[in-house]
Amino acid sequence: MQRFLNGNSRSGRLARSALLPLALLALSVPTHRMAAQRPADVPPERSAARQWFRDAKLGLFIHWGVYSLLGQGEWVMENRGIPVGRYEWLASTFNPVKYDAREWVALAKAAGARYITITARHHDGFSMFASDATRYNVVDWTPFGRDPLRELAEECRRNGIKLFFYYSQLDWHHADYWPRGRTGHATGRAEHGGWNRYLDFMDRQLEELLTRYGPIGGIWLDGMWDKPDADWRLTRTYDLIHRTQPAALIVPNHHLPPLPGEDVQTFEQDLPGANTAGFNTTEIGALPLETSLTMNRSWGFNITDTAFKSTRELIGYLVRAAGNDANLLLNVGPRSDGTIQPEAVTRLGEIGRWLETFGASIYGTRGGPIASRTWGVTTQRGDTVFVHVLDWPDPVLSLPTWGARVRSATLLAAGATIPFTQTDMNLSLTLPAAGPDEPDRVIVLQTVPRRGQSER
Ligand code: GLC
Repeated sequence: MQRFLNGNSRSGRLARSALLPLALLALSVPTHRMAAQRPADVPPERSAARQWFRDAKLGLFIHWGVYSLLGQGEWVMENRGIPVGRYEWLASTFNPVKYDAREWVALAKAAGARYITITARHHDGFSMFASDATRYNVVDWTPFGRDPLRELAEECRRNGIKLFFYYSQLDWHHADYWPRGRTGHATGRAEHGGWNRYLDFMDRQLEELLTRYGPIGGIWLDGMWDKPDADWRLTRTYDLIHRTQPAALIVPNHHLPPLPGEDVQTFEQDLPGANTAGFNTTEIGALPLETSLTMNRSWGFNITDTAFKSTRELIGYLVRAAGNDANLLLNVGPRSDGTIQPEAVTRLGEIGRWLETFGASIYGTRGGPIASRTWGVTTQRGDTVFVHVLDWPDPVLSLPTWGARVRSATLLAAGATIPFTQTDMNLSLTLPAAGPDEPDRVIVLQTVPRRGQSER
Protein backbone atom coordinates (compact mmCIF):
# COMPACT_ATOMS: atom_id res chain seq x y z
CA MET A 1 0.00 0.00 0.00
CA GLN A 2 2.79 2.42 0.84
CA ARG A 3 4.51 1.46 -2.36
CA PHE A 4 4.17 4.97 -3.71
CA LEU A 5 5.62 6.55 -0.59
CA ASN A 6 8.45 4.07 -0.70
CA GLY A 7 9.14 5.02 -4.28
CA ASN A 8 8.40 3.13 -7.44
CA SER A 9 11.82 3.74 -8.88
CA ARG A 10 13.89 0.72 -9.75
CA SER A 11 16.40 1.55 -7.07
CA GLY A 12 13.61 1.99 -4.52
CA ARG A 13 12.18 -1.38 -5.40
CA LEU A 14 15.59 -3.02 -5.29
CA ALA A 15 16.33 -1.47 -1.93
CA ARG A 16 13.06 -2.77 -0.55
CA SER A 17 13.66 -6.31 -1.66
CA ALA A 18 17.22 -6.22 -0.40
CA LEU A 19 15.78 -6.03 3.11
CA LEU A 20 13.99 -9.30 2.67
CA PRO A 21 16.47 -11.63 4.33
CA LEU A 22 15.95 -9.69 7.53
CA ALA A 23 12.32 -10.67 7.44
CA LEU A 24 13.17 -14.28 7.50
CA LEU A 25 15.54 -13.88 10.36
CA ALA A 26 12.94 -12.07 12.41
CA LEU A 27 12.82 -13.72 15.79
CA SER A 28 9.15 -14.28 16.05
CA VAL A 29 6.43 -13.79 13.54
CA PRO A 30 3.03 -13.17 15.11
CA THR A 31 1.09 -16.37 15.04
CA HIS A 32 -2.25 -15.08 16.25
CA ARG A 33 -4.99 -15.56 13.73
CA MET A 34 -8.21 -13.59 13.51
CA ALA A 35 -11.43 -15.42 14.26
CA ALA A 36 -11.99 -17.96 11.51
CA GLN A 37 -14.52 -17.25 8.82
CA ARG A 38 -17.45 -19.48 9.62
CA PRO A 39 -16.98 -22.62 7.51
CA ALA A 40 -20.73 -22.60 6.84
CA ASP A 41 -20.18 -19.47 4.71
CA VAL A 42 -17.86 -21.32 2.40
CA PRO A 43 -19.32 -23.89 0.01
CA PRO A 44 -17.76 -27.38 0.18
CA GLU A 45 -15.96 -27.12 -3.21
CA ARG A 46 -14.19 -24.02 -2.07
CA SER A 47 -13.39 -25.38 1.38
CA ALA A 48 -11.81 -28.37 -0.31
CA ALA A 49 -9.85 -26.09 -2.65
CA ARG A 50 -8.58 -24.07 0.32
CA GLN A 51 -7.53 -27.26 2.02
CA TRP A 52 -5.73 -28.36 -1.13
CA PHE A 53 -4.02 -24.99 -1.27
CA ARG A 54 -2.78 -25.27 2.32
CA ASP A 55 -1.30 -28.67 1.55
CA ALA A 56 0.36 -27.58 -1.70
CA LYS A 57 3.17 -25.52 -0.14
CA LEU A 58 5.04 -24.56 -3.31
CA GLY A 59 3.84 -22.66 -6.36
CA LEU A 60 5.71 -21.27 -9.34
CA PHE A 61 4.98 -17.62 -10.08
CA ILE A 62 5.54 -16.56 -13.70
CA HIS A 63 5.79 -12.90 -14.70
CA TRP A 64 5.80 -12.75 -18.46
CA GLY A 65 4.57 -10.16 -20.92
CA VAL A 66 5.49 -7.38 -23.33
CA TYR A 67 7.78 -5.90 -20.65
CA SER A 68 9.97 -9.01 -20.89
CA LEU A 69 11.21 -7.60 -24.22
CA LEU A 70 12.95 -4.70 -22.51
CA GLY A 71 14.56 -6.72 -19.72
CA GLN A 72 13.97 -4.11 -17.05
CA GLY A 73 11.23 -5.69 -15.02
CA GLU A 74 7.44 -5.50 -15.34
CA TRP A 75 7.26 -1.87 -14.16
CA VAL A 76 9.30 -0.59 -17.12
CA MET A 77 6.35 1.25 -18.70
CA GLU A 78 5.88 3.28 -15.54
CA ASN A 79 9.52 3.58 -14.52
CA ARG A 80 10.65 4.79 -17.96
CA GLY A 81 7.50 6.86 -18.60
CA ILE A 82 6.66 5.04 -21.85
CA PRO A 83 3.51 6.49 -23.47
CA VAL A 84 0.71 4.13 -24.49
CA GLY A 85 1.36 4.51 -28.24
CA ARG A 86 5.05 3.57 -27.95
CA TYR A 87 4.25 0.62 -25.72
CA GLU A 88 1.57 -0.58 -28.14
CA TRP A 89 4.17 -0.54 -30.88
CA LEU A 90 6.52 -2.54 -28.69
CA ALA A 91 3.73 -5.02 -27.97
CA SER A 92 3.24 -5.59 -31.70
CA THR A 93 6.73 -7.16 -31.83
CA PHE A 94 6.14 -9.74 -29.08
CA ASN A 95 6.94 -13.12 -30.60
CA PRO A 96 8.06 -15.81 -28.14
CA VAL A 97 9.11 -18.37 -30.72
CA LYS A 98 10.73 -20.64 -28.15
CA TYR A 99 7.75 -20.75 -25.82
CA ASP A 100 6.89 -24.34 -24.96
CA ALA A 101 4.27 -24.89 -22.27
CA ARG A 102 5.54 -28.45 -21.85
CA GLU A 103 8.95 -27.19 -20.75
CA TRP A 104 7.49 -24.73 -18.27
CA VAL A 105 5.20 -27.29 -16.69
CA ALA A 106 7.97 -29.89 -16.62
CA LEU A 107 10.15 -27.36 -14.82
CA ALA A 108 7.44 -26.57 -12.28
CA LYS A 109 6.93 -30.27 -11.67
CA ALA A 110 10.62 -30.97 -11.33
CA ALA A 111 10.81 -28.17 -8.75
CA GLY A 112 8.07 -29.84 -6.72
CA ALA A 113 5.62 -27.00 -7.35
CA ARG A 114 1.97 -27.98 -7.13
CA TYR A 115 0.61 -24.90 -8.87
CA ILE A 116 1.53 -22.17 -11.30
CA THR A 117 0.38 -18.57 -11.06
CA ILE A 118 0.93 -16.69 -14.31
CA THR A 119 0.39 -13.08 -15.33
CA ALA A 120 -2.67 -13.08 -17.59
CA ARG A 121 -2.61 -9.30 -17.61
CA HIS A 122 -0.17 -7.09 -15.77
CA HIS A 123 -0.26 -3.36 -14.99
CA ASP A 124 0.80 -2.57 -18.60
CA GLY A 125 -2.73 -3.65 -19.55
CA PHE A 126 -1.67 -6.13 -22.22
CA SER A 127 -3.72 -9.34 -22.23
CA MET A 128 -1.56 -12.44 -22.55
CA PHE A 129 -4.63 -14.42 -23.60
CA ALA A 130 -7.21 -14.37 -26.40
CA SER A 131 -9.81 -11.80 -25.43
CA ASP A 132 -12.99 -10.50 -27.04
CA ALA A 133 -12.97 -7.54 -24.67
CA THR A 134 -9.97 -5.88 -26.35
CA ARG A 135 -7.79 -6.35 -29.41
CA TYR A 136 -4.82 -5.46 -27.23
CA ASN A 137 -4.09 -9.12 -26.60
CA VAL A 138 -1.39 -11.59 -27.54
CA VAL A 139 -3.42 -13.32 -30.25
CA ASP A 140 -4.75 -10.27 -32.08
CA TRP A 141 -1.89 -7.83 -31.54
CA THR A 142 1.29 -9.84 -32.07
CA PRO A 143 2.90 -11.96 -34.79
CA PHE A 144 2.86 -14.84 -32.32
CA GLY A 145 -0.89 -15.23 -32.77
CA ARG A 146 -1.18 -18.09 -30.27
CA ASP A 147 -2.77 -18.12 -26.84
CA PRO A 148 0.05 -19.13 -24.48
CA LEU A 149 -2.31 -19.47 -21.55
CA ARG A 150 -4.45 -21.99 -23.36
CA GLU A 151 -1.36 -24.10 -24.07
CA LEU A 152 -0.27 -23.75 -20.46
CA ALA A 153 -3.71 -24.64 -19.11
CA GLU A 154 -3.82 -27.80 -21.19
CA GLU A 155 -0.34 -28.83 -20.15
CA CYS A 156 -1.07 -28.13 -16.49
CA ARG A 157 -4.18 -30.28 -16.68
CA ARG A 158 -2.23 -33.15 -18.20
CA ASN A 159 0.27 -32.95 -15.37
CA GLY A 160 -1.94 -32.37 -12.37
CA ILE A 161 -0.64 -28.85 -11.77
CA LYS A 162 -3.23 -26.24 -10.81
CA LEU A 163 -3.19 -22.99 -12.72
CA PHE A 164 -3.93 -19.59 -11.22
CA PHE A 165 -4.27 -16.42 -13.27
CA TYR A 166 -2.65 -13.25 -12.01
CA TYR A 167 -4.85 -10.36 -13.10
CA SER A 168 -3.95 -6.72 -12.56
CA GLN A 169 -6.75 -4.46 -11.49
CA LEU A 170 -4.45 -1.51 -12.10
CA ASP A 171 -4.10 -0.59 -15.78
CA TRP A 172 -1.64 1.85 -17.39
CA HIS A 173 -3.17 1.38 -20.84
CA HIS A 174 -6.96 1.38 -20.64
CA ALA A 175 -8.56 4.76 -21.38
CA ASP A 176 -11.28 4.20 -18.80
CA TYR A 177 -8.89 3.63 -15.92
CA TRP A 178 -9.79 7.08 -14.67
CA PRO A 179 -9.55 9.00 -12.41
CA ARG A 180 -5.94 7.87 -12.38
CA GLY A 181 -4.43 6.44 -9.21
CA ARG A 182 -0.93 6.82 -7.88
CA THR A 183 0.73 5.58 -11.06
CA GLY A 184 0.30 5.65 -14.83
CA HIS A 185 0.49 9.42 -15.26
CA ALA A 186 3.10 9.51 -18.03
CA THR A 187 1.18 7.36 -20.48
CA GLY A 188 -0.34 10.21 -22.50
CA ARG A 189 -3.95 9.15 -21.96
CA ALA A 190 -6.79 11.70 -22.11
CA GLU A 191 -7.86 13.04 -18.73
CA HIS A 192 -11.29 11.49 -18.77
CA GLY A 193 -12.77 8.01 -18.75
CA GLY A 194 -15.50 5.87 -17.27
CA TRP A 195 -14.56 3.96 -14.12
CA ASN A 196 -17.57 1.65 -14.22
CA ARG A 197 -16.90 0.90 -17.88
CA TYR A 198 -13.38 -0.10 -16.87
CA LEU A 199 -14.70 -2.39 -14.14
CA ASP A 200 -17.16 -3.93 -16.63
CA PHE A 201 -14.23 -4.60 -18.95
CA MET A 202 -12.31 -6.27 -16.13
CA ASP A 203 -15.25 -8.46 -15.18
CA ARG A 204 -15.69 -9.45 -18.79
CA GLN A 205 -12.06 -10.51 -19.04
CA LEU A 206 -12.23 -12.39 -15.76
CA GLU A 207 -15.25 -14.22 -17.08
CA GLU A 208 -13.24 -15.19 -20.14
CA LEU A 209 -10.46 -16.52 -17.96
CA LEU A 210 -12.96 -18.46 -15.89
CA THR A 211 -14.89 -19.99 -18.78
CA ARG A 212 -12.33 -20.72 -21.48
CA TYR A 213 -9.50 -22.52 -19.73
CA GLY A 214 -11.28 -25.31 -17.89
CA PRO A 215 -11.22 -25.51 -14.12
CA ILE A 216 -8.56 -23.17 -12.77
CA GLY A 217 -7.05 -22.86 -9.30
CA GLY A 218 -8.11 -19.27 -8.93
CA ILE A 219 -7.53 -15.61 -9.65
CA TRP A 220 -4.60 -13.70 -8.12
CA LEU A 221 -5.60 -10.04 -8.07
CA ASP A 222 -3.11 -7.22 -7.81
CA GLY A 223 -3.02 -3.44 -8.04
CA MET A 224 -5.91 -2.24 -5.92
CA TRP A 225 -3.36 -0.38 -3.85
CA ASP A 226 -3.05 2.05 -6.78
CA LYS A 227 -6.44 3.53 -5.88
CA PRO A 228 -7.06 2.52 -2.29
CA ASP A 229 -10.12 4.71 -1.91
CA ALA A 230 -11.88 3.80 -5.17
CA ASP A 231 -15.00 1.67 -5.35
CA TRP A 232 -13.61 -1.49 -6.93
CA ARG A 233 -17.03 -3.22 -6.88
CA LEU A 234 -15.29 -6.09 -5.15
CA THR A 235 -18.44 -7.89 -4.09
CA ARG A 236 -19.66 -8.00 -7.66
CA THR A 237 -16.33 -9.22 -9.03
CA TYR A 238 -15.82 -11.76 -6.24
CA ASP A 239 -19.36 -13.09 -6.72
CA LEU A 240 -18.72 -13.40 -10.45
CA ILE A 241 -15.58 -15.43 -9.83
CA HIS A 242 -17.16 -17.75 -7.28
CA ARG A 243 -20.36 -18.15 -9.24
CA THR A 244 -18.53 -19.00 -12.46
CA GLN A 245 -16.09 -21.44 -10.83
CA PRO A 246 -17.20 -22.38 -7.31
CA ALA A 247 -13.84 -23.98 -6.49
CA ALA A 248 -11.69 -21.10 -7.78
CA LEU A 249 -9.84 -19.26 -5.03
CA ILE A 250 -9.51 -15.50 -4.82
CA VAL A 251 -6.01 -14.45 -3.86
CA PRO A 252 -5.79 -10.67 -3.50
CA ASN A 253 -2.45 -8.92 -3.23
CA HIS A 254 -3.94 -5.78 -1.71
CA HIS A 255 -1.70 -5.91 1.36
CA LEU A 256 -4.71 -5.58 3.67
CA PRO A 257 -6.22 -8.04 6.14
CA PRO A 258 -8.68 -10.36 4.36
CA LEU A 259 -11.93 -8.92 3.04
CA PRO A 260 -15.18 -10.88 2.71
CA GLY A 261 -15.22 -13.35 -0.17
CA GLU A 262 -11.46 -13.84 -0.33
CA ASP A 263 -9.86 -17.26 0.05
CA VAL A 264 -6.14 -16.77 0.57
CA GLN A 265 -4.11 -14.07 2.29
CA THR A 266 -0.97 -13.45 0.30
CA PHE A 267 2.10 -11.51 1.44
CA GLU A 268 4.49 -9.94 -1.03
CA GLN A 269 8.20 -10.49 -0.32
CA ASP A 270 7.49 -11.17 3.37
CA LEU A 271 6.51 -14.01 5.60
CA PRO A 272 3.03 -13.68 7.08
CA GLY A 273 3.05 -11.07 9.80
CA ALA A 274 6.42 -9.59 8.89
CA ASN A 275 6.58 -6.29 7.07
CA THR A 276 10.10 -5.60 5.92
CA ALA A 277 8.73 -4.67 2.49
CA GLY A 278 7.01 -1.65 4.02
CA PHE A 279 3.57 -2.27 2.54
CA ASN A 280 2.37 -5.54 4.03
CA THR A 281 -0.14 -5.75 6.83
CA THR A 282 1.09 -7.49 9.98
CA GLU A 283 -2.40 -8.76 10.72
CA ILE A 284 -2.78 -12.43 9.91
CA GLY A 285 -6.31 -13.55 9.17
CA ALA A 286 -7.85 -17.01 9.29
CA LEU A 287 -7.43 -17.85 5.61
CA PRO A 288 -4.77 -20.05 4.00
CA LEU A 289 -1.53 -18.09 3.63
CA GLU A 290 0.98 -17.50 0.88
CA THR A 291 4.27 -15.62 0.52
CA SER A 292 5.30 -14.48 -2.95
CA LEU A 293 9.01 -14.16 -3.51
CA THR A 294 11.37 -13.10 -6.28
CA MET A 295 14.26 -15.41 -7.06
CA ASN A 296 16.52 -12.43 -7.70
CA ARG A 297 15.10 -8.97 -6.98
CA SER A 298 12.75 -8.62 -9.95
CA TRP A 299 9.44 -10.17 -10.94
CA GLY A 300 9.62 -9.58 -14.70
CA PHE A 301 12.78 -10.44 -16.66
CA ASN A 302 15.57 -8.04 -15.70
CA ILE A 303 18.76 -8.24 -17.70
CA THR A 304 20.97 -6.57 -15.08
CA ASP A 305 19.55 -8.21 -11.98
CA THR A 306 21.91 -11.06 -11.23
CA ALA A 307 21.25 -11.06 -7.49
CA PHE A 308 19.88 -14.58 -7.48
CA LYS A 309 19.31 -16.10 -4.08
CA SER A 310 21.20 -19.33 -3.59
CA THR A 311 19.34 -22.64 -3.61
CA ARG A 312 20.13 -22.93 0.07
CA GLU A 313 18.46 -19.57 0.76
CA LEU A 314 15.46 -20.47 -1.34
CA ILE A 315 15.00 -23.75 0.51
CA GLY A 316 15.26 -21.70 3.71
CA TYR A 317 12.40 -19.50 2.49
CA LEU A 318 10.28 -22.52 1.59
CA VAL A 319 10.87 -24.11 4.98
CA ARG A 320 10.21 -20.89 6.88
CA ALA A 321 7.03 -20.32 4.89
CA ALA A 322 5.84 -23.83 5.78
CA GLY A 323 6.74 -23.24 9.42
CA ASN A 324 4.55 -20.14 9.28
CA ASP A 325 1.72 -22.16 7.76
CA ALA A 326 2.17 -20.51 4.38
CA ASN A 327 2.87 -21.55 0.81
CA LEU A 328 5.84 -20.16 -1.06
CA LEU A 329 5.03 -18.73 -4.48
CA LEU A 330 8.47 -18.53 -6.04
CA ASN A 331 8.86 -16.35 -9.09
CA VAL A 332 10.59 -16.66 -12.43
CA GLY A 333 10.61 -13.98 -15.13
CA PRO A 334 11.02 -15.73 -18.48
CA ARG A 335 12.66 -13.90 -21.38
CA SER A 336 10.56 -12.58 -24.24
CA ASP A 337 11.51 -15.54 -26.44
CA GLY A 338 9.78 -17.82 -23.95
CA THR A 339 12.87 -19.32 -22.34
CA ILE A 340 13.62 -19.28 -18.64
CA GLN A 341 17.01 -18.10 -17.40
CA PRO A 342 19.44 -20.91 -16.58
CA GLU A 343 20.03 -19.53 -13.06
CA ALA A 344 16.35 -20.11 -12.33
CA VAL A 345 16.23 -23.50 -14.01
CA THR A 346 19.17 -24.75 -11.95
CA ARG A 347 17.72 -23.55 -8.68
CA LEU A 348 14.29 -24.98 -9.36
CA GLY A 349 15.83 -28.37 -10.16
CA GLU A 350 17.82 -28.31 -6.94
CA ILE A 351 14.78 -27.38 -4.87
CA GLY A 352 12.91 -30.28 -6.48
CA ARG A 353 15.70 -32.71 -5.66
CA TRP A 354 15.72 -31.52 -2.06
CA LEU A 355 11.96 -31.98 -1.87
CA GLU A 356 12.24 -35.55 -3.10
CA THR A 357 13.89 -36.39 0.21
CA PHE A 358 12.47 -33.75 2.53
CA GLY A 359 9.03 -33.16 0.99
CA ALA A 360 7.43 -35.31 3.71
CA SER A 361 8.25 -32.56 6.19
CA ILE A 362 6.74 -29.85 3.95
CA TYR A 363 3.78 -30.98 1.82
CA GLY A 364 0.51 -31.43 3.65
CA THR A 365 1.92 -30.06 6.90
CA ARG A 366 0.79 -27.15 9.02
CA GLY A 367 2.84 -24.73 11.08
CA GLY A 368 4.21 -26.74 14.02
CA PRO A 369 3.80 -26.30 17.77
CA ILE A 370 6.76 -23.94 18.16
CA ALA A 371 6.59 -20.59 16.42
CA SER A 372 9.41 -19.37 14.17
CA ARG A 373 12.83 -19.03 15.75
CA THR A 374 16.14 -17.71 14.46
CA TRP A 375 17.42 -21.28 14.19
CA GLY A 376 14.45 -22.52 12.16
CA VAL A 377 10.83 -23.60 12.36
CA THR A 378 8.58 -26.56 13.11
CA THR A 379 5.97 -28.15 10.90
CA GLN A 380 3.46 -30.81 11.85
CA ARG A 381 1.28 -33.54 10.43
CA GLY A 382 -0.92 -35.24 12.99
CA ASP A 383 1.26 -36.43 15.85
CA THR A 384 4.44 -36.08 13.82
CA VAL A 385 6.39 -32.88 14.36
CA PHE A 386 9.25 -31.88 12.09
CA VAL A 387 11.96 -29.72 13.59
CA HIS A 388 13.71 -27.81 10.79
CA VAL A 389 17.14 -26.71 11.94
CA LEU A 390 18.29 -24.16 9.40
CA ASP A 391 20.92 -22.33 11.34
CA TRP A 392 22.25 -23.62 14.65
CA PRO A 393 25.95 -24.11 15.32
CA ASP A 394 25.85 -26.04 18.62
CA PRO A 395 25.42 -29.79 19.14
CA VAL A 396 22.45 -29.37 21.49
CA LEU A 397 19.25 -27.55 20.63
CA SER A 398 16.72 -26.92 23.40
CA LEU A 399 13.08 -26.29 22.65
CA PRO A 400 10.30 -25.32 24.99
CA THR A 401 7.82 -28.16 25.47
CA TRP A 402 4.28 -28.09 24.21
CA GLY A 403 1.24 -30.24 24.84
CA ALA A 404 2.86 -33.47 23.70
CA ARG A 405 5.43 -35.99 24.85
CA VAL A 406 8.10 -37.09 22.41
CA ARG A 407 8.33 -40.84 21.86
CA SER A 408 11.12 -40.86 19.31
CA ALA A 409 13.39 -38.53 17.39
CA THR A 410 15.06 -39.45 14.11
CA LEU A 411 16.85 -37.67 11.33
CA LEU A 412 14.62 -37.50 8.27
CA ALA A 413 17.34 -37.97 5.68
CA ALA A 414 19.24 -40.90 7.17
CA GLY A 415 16.75 -42.26 9.67
CA ALA A 416 19.43 -42.12 12.38
CA THR A 417 18.24 -41.89 15.95
CA ILE A 418 18.62 -38.48 17.60
CA PRO A 419 19.37 -38.61 21.32
CA PHE A 420 17.02 -36.40 23.33
CA THR A 421 15.96 -35.58 26.86
CA GLN A 422 12.70 -34.02 27.88
CA THR A 423 11.38 -32.44 31.02
CA ASP A 424 8.17 -30.56 31.71
CA MET A 425 9.95 -27.43 30.58
CA ASN A 426 12.06 -28.37 27.62
CA LEU A 427 13.15 -30.83 25.00
CA SER A 428 16.86 -31.09 24.21
CA LEU A 429 17.97 -32.63 20.95
CA THR A 430 21.53 -33.70 20.25
CA LEU A 431 22.15 -32.86 16.64
CA PRO A 432 24.61 -34.31 14.18
CA ALA A 433 26.85 -31.75 12.54
CA ALA A 434 25.35 -30.16 9.43
CA GLY A 435 26.93 -31.24 6.16
CA PRO A 436 28.20 -28.47 3.88
CA ASP A 437 25.36 -28.98 1.41
CA GLU A 438 22.68 -29.46 3.99
CA PRO A 439 20.38 -26.43 4.16
CA ASP A 440 18.02 -27.96 6.71
CA ARG A 441 18.54 -30.70 9.28
CA VAL A 442 15.07 -32.18 9.69
CA ILE A 443 14.33 -34.08 12.89
CA VAL A 444 11.18 -36.16 12.94
CA LEU A 445 9.50 -36.31 16.33
CA GLN A 446 6.83 -38.90 16.96
CA THR A 447 4.68 -37.56 19.74
CA VAL A 448 1.74 -38.46 21.96
CA PRO A 449 -0.57 -35.82 23.39
CA ARG A 450 0.41 -34.88 26.94
CA ARG A 451 -2.64 -32.98 28.04
CA GLY A 452 -5.18 -32.51 25.33
CA GLN A 453 -4.19 -30.80 22.10
CA SER A 454 -0.93 -29.15 21.16
CA GLU A 455 -0.76 -25.42 21.81
CA ARG A 456 -1.02 -24.21 18.25
C1 GLC B 1 3.60 -5.96 -6.88
C2 GLC B 1 4.09 -5.36 -8.16
C3 GLC B 1 3.88 -6.24 -9.30
C4 GLC B 1 4.14 -7.69 -9.04
C5 GLC B 1 3.53 -8.16 -7.74
C6 GLC B 1 3.89 -9.57 -7.41
O1 GLC B 1 2.26 -5.76 -6.68
O2 GLC B 1 3.50 -4.14 -8.44
O3 GLC B 1 4.63 -5.79 -10.37
O4 GLC B 1 3.53 -8.39 -10.05
O5 GLC B 1 3.90 -7.32 -6.74
O6 GLC B 1 3.66 -9.89 -6.10
